[in-house]
Amino acid sequence: MKLPPSARFSTVCIHAGQVPDPSTGAIVTPIFQTSTYVQEELGKHKGFEYARTQNPTRSALEANIAAIEGGTAAFAFASGMAAIDAISTLLQSGGHVVVTDNTYGGTFRLFDKVLTRYGLEFSYVDTSRTDLVERAMRPNTRMLFIETPTNPVMRLTDIKATADIARRHGARLVVDNTFASPVVQRPIALGADIVIHSTTKYLNGHSDSVGGVAIVTRDEDVQWLRFIQNAAGAILSPLDSWLVLRGTKTLAVRMAQHNANGQALAEFLAGHPKVSQVLYPGLPTHPQHDLAKRQMNGFGGMLSFDVGTFEAARHVCNGIRLMSLAESLGGVETLICHPASMTHASVPPETRHAIGLTDSLVRISVGIEDAADLIDDLQQALA
Ligand SMILES: Cc1ncc(COP(=O)(O)O)c(C=O)c1O
Repeated sequence: MKLPPSARFSTVCIHAGQVPDPSTGAIVTPIFQTSTYVQEELGKHKGFEYARTQNPTRSALEANIAAIEGGTAAFAFASGMAAIDAISTLLQSGGHVVVTDNTYGGTFRLFDKVLTRYGLEFSYVDTSRTDLVERAMRPNTRMLFIETPTNPVMRLTDIKATADIARRHGARLVVDNTFASPVVQRPIALGADIVIHSTTKYLNGHSDSVGGVAIVTRDEDVQWLRFIQNAAGAILSPLDSWLVLRGTKTLAVRMAQHNANGQALAEFLAGHPKVSQVLYPGLPTHPQHDLAKRQMNGFGGMLSFDVGTFEAARHVCNGIRLMSLAESLGGVETLICHPASMTHASVPPETRHAIGLTDSLVRISVGIEDAADLIDDLQQALA
């Protein structure tokens, strides 16, 4: 098997980074569950010395994801947060970072409670407004860290425009692409320097692994991430690397179904009398629908909707039968959650309300079941 340079996206997902195992011909990269590698003689080995530093299963996954996102190299970590922590070490004390104000709570916690102790400064900005991003830039701004769409209010940031601002100010643009997936959004093609994923979500896609990956483009970042992955050691395990590698093979087909089901549920909810608002970039009522059409390929499997009162939201969350009430997202099975009391419970109410995260908002990670079954389930839960 040889991947032609002209290979298209779904072919890249299945084959990039993988060759049949040279010792057996196994078509699937094995799980190299080993801590060390025997050396033939002093100073002579096969490129593998110790498994924190190099593991063939992890290397195959990293090459696969680098190709999928169109980066120079990728580095796999024990969780999405470990990947974000690793790229934060590109910063030095005295540096300033502009961050999407409605960023994932774990990212905010790392920045606000840990990294500020090391002389880093963070400004939280509504990055959907490029004028506010421009205004937040300072001479010591070294990084722009954005999420688009945001969780759970589905606000978008213009990646290309933000990349231009970053470049003009000599800062790196980092995009957390977890919510969209590389099928729906290609930040590096739009000018991003670094892409982050919690592989726990769409890349693995089967709700059975926790992991993270950083995809980088600059040679100096490749060198540093390779160094820090070994120096700090928050590596992804061989089994988890194998699970994610299996997940990416079906990424393109899974995302096509997530996109189709997301659109179908959004349209159903938009027409339901008990739903006052649906937040989904694929609806013409979304305030940034034009930007979504420009920068997304399909609109993803995440949506939120407002049912007017907390009591009504509770009624829906407790009333679903096929869907499961759970945090997380991106798996083949549909999950429903109440962000105000679950994923965003630690966000102060006034901050939640300022970004439109009401107590009556319900979020769905739309899976790949038959959309008609999901609609039936919502229909009865809303009744
Ligand atoms: C957008 C986003 N980024 C990062 C993370 C952190 O990933 P992990 O839970 O794998 O550490 C999450 C987790 O929910 C997330 O939703």
